[in-house]
Amino acid sequence: MQRMIIDTDTGSDDAVALVLALMDDDVDVLAITVVSGNVPMEMGVQNAIYTRDLCGSTVPVHAGADRPLVREHVFAHDVHGADGMGDIGLPLTGGVPAPGHAVDVLVDLARRFPGEITLVTLGPLTNLALALRTAPDIAGLFRRVVMMAGTGDGTGNVTPAAEFNVYVDPEAADIVFRSGMPLEMVGWDVSRNDATLTPADAEQLAALGPRGEFCAAIQRRLVEFCRTVTQLDGFDLPDPVTVAVAIDPAVATEVVHRPVAVETTGTQTAGMTVVDHLGVTGRPANVQVVLAADRERFLAMLHRACAR
Ligand code: RIB
Ligand code: CA
Repeated sequence: MQRMIIDTDTGSDDAVALVLALMDDDVDVLAITVVSGNVPMEMGVQNAIYTRDLCGSTVPVHAGADRPLVREHVFAHDVHGADGMGDIGLPLTGGVPAPGHAVDVLVDLARRFPGEITLVTLGPLTNLALALRTAPDIAGLFRRVVMMAGTGDGTGNVTPAAEFNVYVDPEAADIVFRSGMPLEMVGWDVSRNDATLTPADAEQLAALGPRGEFCAAIQRRLVEFCRTVTQLDGFDLPDPVTVAVAIDPAVATEVVHRPVAVETTGTQTAGMTVVDHLGVTGRPANVQVVLAADRERFLAMLHRACAR
């Protein structure tokens, strides 16, 4: 049984990632912590609670940071919809978050289960950065930190250089990447290359049952964004492939240990994860960078979770 915490900004792909983890009998999700990102934090809480309930789970959902550390917020309603869940009319209100701020929960659980927890981050790294500033000792207490963050090949999805989660709060990402934690980075390049579902894949998913239908239907806005902006046929699932790597490391078929720094000041490059593939900086490697995933293994996990 793998103990896990999932930190999320609950957009439509985050929700699929939650289904993957919550429907896996070998994963014990201790808490879902919410951060502002795709949608305002309060909306992310409602989306996470709705998804949790759909999975028949009682895992506590905790409200967290409602803005980046220093910057003005950037949301992604153009990607995931006004409600973050494809605007398909889901009843995404009335959910009651668990008591306790996300930052305190991250610190408390890390200390309660030293060396046992896999922390998966699916949104901006604001909660984790605040937890590290509050309790620096937690840097040595997580078993793994698997992040949907940045890009391994330098191709951004918000600017030419930056991926959304790091772009929203580069200062938070910088704190995390400098922390010395056992970091694994699943960049947007992996999602684009190895975790994109075609319309036929989506139909197959929807036919698996209520959770499959949910996972496909809430991508309605993302499909449009992929068609018009990222030029993908269907939709990509960055957060679910990240959870898949956390649950089954064999999903990651190419992983390199690299020095990675976060750009926080560039006018063109703020939020870029600068991966030193050639070692020209001479800095020590601080991140296991996933560069490729086994698409079939990932899809099989997704189907198993949705078919239950
Ligand atoms: O860049 C992709 C990431 O940004 C995903 O986590 C998606 O949910 C958005 O948060
Ligand atoms: Ca996300």
